Amino acid sequence: MASLVIAIDGPAASGKGTLARKIAERLGFAYLDTGAIYRAAAHHLLRNMNSAPENEADAIAAAEYVRDNLDDNMTSNPELRAEDVAQATSKIAANQKVREILLDAQRKYAESPPDVNDAMAGGAILDGRDIGTVVCPKADVKLFVTASNEVRAKRRYDEQISKGVDVEYDAILADMIERDKRDRERSVAPLKPADDAFVIDTSNDTPKDVLARALDIIRGHLAEQVAKNAP
Ligand code: DC
Repeated sequence: MASLVIAIDGPAASGKGTLARKIAERLGFAYLDTGAIYRAAAHHLLRNMNSAPENEADAIAAAEYVRDNLDDNMTSNPELRAEDVAQATSKIAANQKVREILLDAQRKYAESPPDVNDAMAGGAILDGRDIGTVVCPKADVKLFVTASNEVRAKRRYDEQISKGVDVEYDAILADMIERDKRDRERSVAPLKPADDAFVIDTSNDTPKDVLARALDIIRGHLAEQVAKNAP
């Protein structure tokens, strides 16, 4: 059976990562957080190269480093979640060459996802900003997850406070609005729903409700596909 691809896009702290992880768990699919790949490049640029996102040659070299050394340790580093890394990530992610360098690994993952628990049917879930539009334009199901600015900032605030990080809600809200604006307005692969994406607003829902809605959409869509392909 051909492997299924589910694309999930959305702005920061929209709940897309939580949702993607839960769907992957439920369906036994492999999950790729593509933001972590971009974050790993920004992290390498800031912390190991002591450079800045404005230095294009260094940003490209950092992306090449990540492409050539990508592994689970690199993308699961908790330091990738630091606010300065997030801002730098959004800056280098606007660079076309950086995106081209990191594109192949994402497409390959979608085409041949790692087998999870000997699943009967393979599949991959990728989340990011341009999965449904650029990375996997032919994904079987596309979800665009969003929530109000205030709800998203509160989620990020609570997450940081629970980790013991001293942060101000207003500063988080301002940083988030700035980062989203950059991600939405860049000329290359901007954050936007694909024409055939299902939009899910998570502002007023618990993660459990959001999962139930997403699974309904996936089931409905797959049933439609099966009916369409029936002899
Ligand atoms: O999902 P995240 O917050 O970890 O993403 C961090 C940044 O990476 C985000 O501001 C934009 C960029 N990004 C991107 O441009 N394309 C992707 N597919 C994923 C992330």
